Amino acid sequence: MTIQHGQQQWDARNYDRSMPFVSAFGQEVVQWLNPQAGERIIDWGCGTGDLSARIAESGAKVHGIDFSQEMIREAMTKYPHLSFEHADGQHWSTDLPADAIFSNAALHWMKDAPSTVRAMAKAVRPGGRLVAEFGGKGNIASISMALEDVMTAKGWYEASMNPWYFPSIGEYASLLEQFGFRVMQAIHFDRPTSLQYGEQGMVNWLDTFAGSYLNHLTKEQRVNVIHNVVEQTRPHLMKEGQWVVDYSRIRVYAVRNG
Ligand code: BEZ
Repeated sequence: MTIQHGQQQWDARNYDRSMPFVSAFGQEVVQWLNPQAGERIIDWGCGTGDLSARIAESGAKVHGIDFSQEMIREAMTKYPHLSFEHADGQHWSTDLPADAIFSNAALHWMKDAPSTVRAMAKAVRPGGRLVAEFGGKGNIASISMALEDVMTAKGWYEASMNPWYFPSIGEYASLLEQFGFRVMQAIHFDRPTSLQYGEQGMVNWLDTFAGSYLNHLTKEQRVNVIHNVVEQTRPHLMKEGQWVVDYSRIRVYAVRNG
C-alpha cells in the first residue's frame, strides 16, 4: 500500500476484501454498456480491474486506467491478460479514440470535472458512448458532514481536504453537453449500502476512503476523529447492528456528437 491520490492512499487487497459491493453494483453498469466483441473500451478509473475483466468477457478489447499505482499493480496481477495503465483520468489522452468509455465509482474522485469530461470526450470516437456511474449530490452526506464537523471542532479542517465531486444531475448533464456529448439517459437514485464487519464497518470505511482528512493527523488524533465521526453518524447510518451508508448515484448514458 502507500500510493497517494492527493492524501488518499489505497490498500488494493483490503479494498477488494472489504468493499466487494463496488464491483458487484458495477455489474448493472456493465449491462448498460452492453459491450460488443471487437469494441475498444476504456475503463476510466478501473481500480483492481474486476469490471474491466467482466467487460472483456464480451470479446471487447479493454484498457483500464487508474490514478492509483497500487490498484493498477493489483489489476495486472489479477488479470495479466488484460491491458492496464497508471494514469490520471483528469488528463488522459490517446491517439486512437475508443468505441466506448466505461466508468464505475471513480468519476467522483476526479475533482477537476471539466478537465475529466474534456479528456473523455477526446478519448471516444464520434458516435461512441460514455456509460458511467458515480456519486451524485447528497452522496455520503452524513459522513462528509460528520468529518467536516469533527475536524472543524478540533481546528483541523480545511475545505481542500474534501477529495470528492458529487454533482447534481443537471450540473453533470450540462457539463457533458458542453464538451460534445448528447445525454441519452441520466438518473439520480439513492442506494443505501450495507457495509461488512458489523460495528467495525464504519471504521473500515473511514480508513479506506477518508485518507484526505485523516492521513496528516497523528495516530492519536486520527483515532479520536474516527471515534467522533462514528458516533455522529451512528444515529443516521447504524441499522440493527449494521452500518448502512447513504450512497446516492448518478448513472449516465451519453453519446459523443459526430
Ligand atoms: C462512492 O462510491 O460513492 C464513494 C466511495 C468512497 C468515498 C466516497 C464516495
